[in-house]
Amino acid sequence: MLDQQLNFFYYMILFAAYCFAGWVVEVIYRSLTRRKFVNAGFLFGPFLPIYGIGAFLVIVLEHVLRDWPVALRLAAFGLVITLLEYMAGYLSEKIFKLTLWDYSEYRFNLHGRVCLRFSILWTLLAMGFVMVVHPEALRRVAMLPDGLVQIAAILFLLYFWIDYTFSVISLAAFRKGVAYLYEEYFNLSSLEIEDILKSFQRLREAFPDLNKYVHQNINRRIRIKVGSFLKPVSEKIFQELDGRKPFEAEYYETVRDILEHEEFRKLKDYFHHNSSIYHHVHDVAYLSYRISKFLRLDYRSAARGALLHDFFLYDWRNHDVPDLPREKFHGLEHPKIAVANAKKYFSLNDIEEDIIRKHMWPLTLVPPKYKESYIVSFADKYLSSKEFISEYKKRIEKRRSKFSE
Ligand SMILES: [Fe+2]
Ligand SMILES: [Fe+2]
Repeated sequence: MLDQQLNFFYYMILFAAYCFAGWVVEVIYRSLTRRKFVNAGFLFGPFLPIYGIGAFLVIVLEHVLRDWPVALRLAAFGLVITLLEYMAGYLSEKIFKLTLWDYSEYRFNLHGRVCLRFSILWTLLAMGFVMVVHPEALRRVAMLPDGLVQIAAILFLLYFWIDYTFSVISLAAFRKGVAYLYEEYFNLSSLEIEDILKSFQRLREAFPDLNKYVHQNINRRIRIKVGSFLKPVSEKIFQELDGRKPFEAEYYETVRDILEHEEFRKLKDYFHHNSSIYHHVHDVAYLSYRISKFLRLDYRSAARGALLHDFFLYDWRNHDVPDLPREKFHGLEHPKIAVANAKKYFSLNDIEEDIIRKHMWPLTLVPPKYKESYIVSFADKYLSSKEFISEYKKRIEKRRSKFSE
């Protein structure tokens, strides 16, 4: 397994080759499961060092245990690889605060860092590797001229060191970027916010927990900020809501053109919670209008944006329309569809567009930009849950009366 004739540089080349092969395996696996190209790993270049380290561990292990029966060798491989995987996961979480992979949804996992299914898979791959791949690779690499191998190995080491340094810097920049985004969130334009998030696209796609990190650092803190301005609302506004009279005329004046629009009235035909979308958006719009007026915000935009927030013309429980094919997720897609429909028939200002686009936050990663958007999102959730509850009660009631008949 270990050729005494070959020097350090030959093994360096093999190490690079195994890191590269590991990268190829990961990219294929991740791209197939995500159905798009995903550049796996922490480094910029096409290398995954954990595969190189794992390969060399099993090579040495095979060298030491070569006289043992296969079953015992398999067990030893499994143990060592599982330990390596666990340690790599643990160290990256502790040092870089980065979850490189996450098995927490698999059965028999330990802290999401290792799981039975993958440990078995790795063990079998390792066995195949030491029996077939490595001897062949060793034979081929031994045929390369000494000088060439030395130069290639030194270049690889140099490259590796540079890539590692830049990768650590880019991770630090990512964390800084997220902190900046949070501090300046309400002062940045939507385009600037998108640009910042886009610049971290590769890291976010390669690591399962970076979106969680963004969520925790932006969304949670923003939610606390928003909670502080919404607090007086929940205490006062709901008591006042019954006295509708002086407000109603102004509210209708603000939204009359939308309510009377032929296309918008079609929303009456589509079911939502326990009534129609039309009734649902009407309720959300009125509540948003009242809260925004109470807080001296732009109540016109709040009312209009809220009225258009669910402007989609299909039944969300069973959809297969050109707007939204069956396999697409209604929860994430319908705000975009509503924006497109709203723009087709009405003109939207920035606040109104933000209201519609972000009303499903925090399901969408990027939080709303305006206080009015938070109000609509809050009113929508508040009323939806009320509608859900009353619909649920109605169904239970129906079922009960059926049984008692
Ligand atoms: Fe919605
Ligand atoms: Fe809604």
